[in-house]
Amino acid sequence: MEKVRRFSISIEKELLKKFDRYLKEKKYPTRSKAIEDLIRSALVEKEWLEGKEVAGSIVLVYNHNKRELVAKITHIEHDFHDIILSSQHIHLDHENCLEIIAVKGEPSKIEELRNRLRATKGIKHCSLTMATTGREV
Ligand code: NI
Repeated sequence: MEKVRRFSISIEKELLKKFDRYLKEKKYPTRSKAIEDLIRSALVEKEWLEGKEVAGSIVLVYNHNKRELVAKITHIEHDFHDIILSSQHIHLDHENCLEIIAVKGEPSKIEELRNRLRATKGIKHCSLTMATTGREV
């Protein structure tokens, strides 16, 4: 089991009230668990800002019937083959496709891939989830 340290913090009463409401809404079992998550997300944000190796996913939604769109997306993905771990394609209905691209590498390279995809005409949705390799958090 991981070592756990106890510490006490001082916080403004009003802020603590808001924090407790936040815990309730997010269904956190304890303040400790919520604070741990907040610290970890700050550390993940720092990894992205400092250009550490990170991981994440890009989600696309597009109509595969759009002329040349699938070929354009494939072309972009090949340009970034070194940071793409895998991609999953789901046929949502007759026209719409959902694609989940798992990535790992330099933040700037991942953002460049996201930007290239986002700028592609015909893509209805493009979002990036900034995660971590988990090694340092
Ligand atoms: Ni499809």
